[in-house]
Amino acid sequence: MQEKLNRRDWFKTSLALTAGLSVTPALVQNLMAAPVSEAERAFLKQGKTTGAKVRLNSNENPYGPSEKAKKAVMQVLTEGNRYAFNELEDLKKIIAQKEGVDPSFILIGAGSGELLCQTGIAYGLEGGRVLSAYPTFGLLMNYAEEMNAVWDKVDLNEKLEFDYQKLLSSIKSDTRLVFSCNPNNPTGTVVDSAIVKSFCEEASKKTMVYADEAYIEFLEPSDQKSMVQLVQRTPNLIVSKTFSKIYGLAGLRIGYIVAHPDVVKKVGKYGDTISASQTAIAAAKASLGDEDFMKMTRDKNTIARKIFTDYLDHKKVFYGKSRTNVLLFPAPKEGKTMLTQLEEKGFLIRIWEYQQKEWCRVSIGTAEEMKAFVKAFDEVIA
Ligand SMILES: Cc1ncc(COP(=O)(O)O)c(C=O)c1O
Repeated sequence: MQEKLNRRDWFKTSLALTAGLSVTPALVQNLMAAPVSEAERAFLKQGKTTGAKVRLNSNENPYGPSEKAKKAVMQVLTEGNRYAFNELEDLKKIIAQKEGVDPSFILIGAGSGELLCQTGIAYGLEGGRVLSAYPTFGLLMNYAEEMNAVWDKVDLNEKLEFDYQKLLSSIKSDTRLVFSCNPNNPTGTVVDSAIVKSFCEEASKKTMVYADEAYIEFLEPSDQKSMVQLVQRTPNLIVSKTFSKIYGLAGLRIGYIVAHPDVVKKVGKYGDTISASQTAIAAAKASLGDEDFMKMTRDKNTIARKIFTDYLDHKKVFYGKSRTNVLLFPAPKEGKTMLTQLEEKGFLIRIWEYQQKEWCRVSIGTAEEMKAFVKAFDEVIA
């Protein structure tokens, strides 16, 4: 209920903001998403922005898009007057081949976020409950709640990892869907794929399972064990992936789910049949499987993340062992003040609430950005 009210508040706030009442819409754009804490709501209400430049608040890839993707986008611009019917079908086939399924198992959306929303609507409309660990990426559950489902949450374990045992035992008779996020956002923590696999196998006997793999390519290739391997024989499983993270195409908006054709139809009903643009499709085609670009992002991200974790280790701050481009740790100072003071120094981060405490979520930027951020952060908490 609280979440629901918060979401409505957010819609109201953003309406007021875009009407130009108190702050520039740029601040809203910078925040990129609905507030997840009182600190963020209070920060928004302050209505001032210094035009912060370094966005450590949206888990974006600071190195993308790749040169190949940019070239493809430039080339396809002349087709901008054409609906991308054929191009979408082509991309679907390419993705299907990569994932080892028939194209009827693939649904492409304008970002995986769109597909999370549609899935939230499709299953939320059935009433009952949706279940996830918390904190996690809440979009699907937010939409399900809007459709009158109840969002059941279980805590992460003490290492800030998804607790799959607890999740499995929390499935109730009216749980319509259970959400898994591995690696998880906002923690960047990863659970062994064998545990996730056995969870998906067991949970899917009871309810629909949604396995969000938005950050899986941040793991070394030998660790990228996708749950897509289960989809053919598991009608109760949806796996989602995105081009926004490792490929750096967040602003172009393209992602996809892999699921049984009946599920694809059920979820697809709540979206446009062709929401991906010519440019997004072209960039995705040029990016898919670009091992060099993915490795470059991974390697640079690892170096940049270490700059910040070295600092946190030095300060003896506890944090979840992230293997992606985001970190979560207890806020060392009151959340709204941190947001305000960091923004004044040119940095945007997020503040989450969990177990009656405030937590900082920091996305990993470039090494230079993280060095500058460490300095600013240290001054703010001094
Ligand atoms: C876990 C997770 N899933 C999905 C998304 C949605 O990404 P997109 O809509 O850009 O594909 C995000 C965005 O941050 C995310 O963190």
